[in-house]
Amino acid sequence: MTAQDVPQASQLERRLFPHDAWPERFFYDELAQAEPSVEPHRATRAYWVAEKGDRLLGYAGMMCVLPLADVQTLAVAPEAQGRGLGSHLLDLIEQEARRRGAEDLLLEVRQDNPRAQKLYLRSGFEQIHLRREYYPDGGDALIMRKRLAEPPPRVGPIGSDRRGAHE
Ligand SMILES: CC(C)(COP(=O)(O)OP(=O)(O)OC[C@H]1O[C@@H](n2cnc3c(N)ncnc32)[C@H](O)[C@@H]1OP(=O)(O)O)[C@@H](O)C(=O)NCCC(=O)NCCS
Repeated sequence: MTAQDVPQASQLERRLFPHDAWPERFFYDELAQAEPSVEPHRATRAYWVAEKGDRLLGYAGMMCVLPLADVQTLAVAPEAQGRGLGSHLLDLIEQEARRRGAEDLLLEVRQDNPRAQKLYLRSGFEQIHLRREYYPDGGDALIMRKRLAEPPPRVGPIGSDRRGAHE
């Protein structure tokens, strides 16, 4: 996604998220933290668009501050839904998160958005929390996670978790 895509992305955002659309400046703020605005090693964001000709059909964004990556946004125009575009954009996010070495990929999704939840479940996400009244209209959010790598082993005093073994 480049700054030129923002007006169309913002228009689609308002269609798809009537209760909690990002203001247009959020997109510019996000792009300011992505390549090429910042050097690759300082880019905490990555954004993609799907286009047909000059029409924007979808977009996706990721934040990565190791060890975590987050799905910032994922959207497909209603007329392009149900053809695998959402899954493809989500795959791009996951590939980039893995390339950067993220251990977990996290996201929030409205509890009243079963379509998106189904996509995430199918892609291997699991619900780890419910965050009540997360959205401006009072809607609840499910926090979902996909583990991308095994976390490093926990280090503790030798035998600390084996009490009783020699008693
Ligand atoms: C959620 C969202 C991104 C999914 O995008 P999508 O492009 O429709 O996703 P997919 O096509 O990959 O998968 C959706 C469905 O299409 C089906 N599908 C996937 N590829 C297909 C294909 N080639 N042919 C037919 N159907 C297909 C999937 O099985 C899935 O079926 P389901 O309706 O039973 O879930 C989209 O619905 C959207 O933008 N919604 C509004 C915004 C939103 O909720 N974003 C998520 C915020 S957390």
